[in-house]
Amino acid sequence: MGFEEQKQKYSHKPVLLSEALDYLKPWHGGVFVDATLGLGGHSQALLSSSSDLTLIGLDKDARVIELVTERLKSFSDRFKAVHSDFAEIKRILEALDIDGVDGILADLGVSSFQLESRERGFSFRFCAPLDMRMDETSSNSTAADLLRTLSEKELADIIFEYGQERYARKIARRIVERRSLGKFVETTEDLVKVVESVVGKRSGRIHSATRVFQALRIAVNDELGSLKKFVFDAIDVLKTGGRLVVISFHSLEDRIVKRAFSELSGKKIRILTRKPIRPSRNEISENPRARSAKLRACLKL
Ligand SMILES: C[S@@+](CC[C@H](N)C(=O)[O-])C[C@H]1O[C@@H](n2cnc3c(N)ncnc32)[C@H](O)[C@@H]1O
Repeated sequence: MGFEEQKQKYSHKPVLLSEALDYLKPWHGGVFVDATLGLGGHSQALLSSSSDLTLIGLDKDARVIELVTERLKSFSDRFKAVHSDFAEIKRILEALDIDGVDGILADLGVSSFQLESRERGFSFRFCAPLDMRMDETSSNSTAADLLRTLSEKELADIIFEYGQERYARKIARRIVERRSLGKFVETTEDLVKVVESVVGKRSGRIHSATRVFQALRIAVNDELGSLKKFVFDAIDVLKTGGRLVVISFHSLEDRIVKRAFSELSGKKIRILTRKPIRPSRNEISENPRARSAKLRACLKL
């Protein structure tokens, strides 16, 4: 697929864009980090907000780096994309000889580009091997590896804790029963079948497999571990008066941000959002992905 086609196919509206800019205040320029480049929507807005703004973009998905470098090539003199986990923000900035930054944005989770890349196994809408690694260059376990090797208890804990799925134990038991018959859960279709055999097709308003897919994705990419390290390190690398904005999409992520902010409040930071900022009804109707978004922001003291 050519770049223009990719751009058309995967273009989407960045979530809580004007709110993120209001908190980041990029209008007077400076050095900013977009810790989750994705399709570069927030990055493009940051770069366009001031010609004196330099942006370092991170993403742990190498395909994203390629896509965004092309997409933002008109800003190439003040934009640099780095293939990295955002937990490495300190190391990356050190390597670039950057002492402190004026603002950092993280818009967590998967991008529509990843969800629509059928062969990567993020979405149960397409039949594909259960990979789910955001960083395909890593040697980390895929979702299929976890389903093949973890114990029943470990699988149940992942599905319960990261998916908040009340049938977690039953689903884990069914996976392990199949394994003992030599039938491994290797594709998105296999997993959907197992979940549906326990829970049925629907679970309230969502498809019954939604929570299990989310749980496995979080485990495969150690999303919560990276986020915990990132929030503290990001605050460390901000200059005095610099701002951190985090947009999260489920309560596990939001809780990590909220707790880190409370722990550092009054010592290293001032919290700018007593309550998380939610998208307007208008935004949700235009962009359903925004539905569960919560934005929290703080200022470095
Ligand atoms: C929701 S998308 C970002 C969308 C982007 N703000 C935009 O406007 O297009 C999230 C991106 O973060 C990346 N990501 C998730 N966890 C990451 C991590 N720990 N380190 C670096 N990138 C990560 C994903 O690969 C994905 O591309």
